[in-house]
Amino acid sequence: MRLIIAVDGPAAAGKGTLAKALAMALGLPHLDTGLLYRAVARQMILSGLDPASDDGEQTAHALQPADLLRDDLRVPEIDRGASAVATQTPVRAALLKRQREFATASGAVIDGRDIGTVVFPDADLKFFVTASAAVRALRRYQQLHGVAKPDQADLDLLAAEIEARDRKDAERPVSPLRQADDAILVETDHLDAQAVLAHALSIVKTRFAT
Ligand code: C5P
Repeated sequence: MRLIIAVDGPAAAGKGTLAKALAMALGLPHLDTGLLYRAVARQMILSGLDPASDDGEQTAHALQPADLLRDDLRVPEIDRGASAVATQTPVRAALLKRQREFATASGAVIDGRDIGTVVFPDADLKFFVTASAAVRALRRYQQLHGVAKPDQADLDLLAAEIEARDRKDAERPVSPLRQADDAILVETDHLDAQAVLAHALSIVKTRFAT
């Protein structure tokens, strides 16, 4: 089935994990659109540009598929750079085209902040995945450091960074982070990745049962 499924939500809510698993289960391609903004920020920094104050439009147009595959895109400097460059309207316009092209041919599961509101407002199905800031910080900490018992000061710092990024994403005038009116809210505080996937798949089956 040529479905377009949008998965939006704040940082570290589990939307990427859900989108990837959903895509695999349904045999659809998956696009993590955060990687586009991260790759633009990284390329700008490498060129001596500041994602917070310099124009990123040319960099966005010049982005190559291999730029998304770097393993150094999830570091704090790029977290901040991506959310700064994501406020630039011409950068978003350049990346919008790529996102639409990716999904139009064979459908896709796409995760980000504005997929259900701006990129694919007519998506077949939309999820908005969220969790409390404390749970999201703990998950991100464990992803980064792989330890069960976190250092509280580090955890507090991470929670503050995540909340600052969410605020910036939600308050920007262009394509802010927002739940689409027709998106299904998935709260993941008390659900592990497998339970979230099972819940989402049951909705897909109910919605598209023929
Ligand atoms: O999803 P991820 O945390 O990797 O995204 C990094 C940043 O890219 C976000 O904080 C946000 O500012 C930006 N972004 C966006 N729109 C998207 C995806 C990501 O503005 N669709």
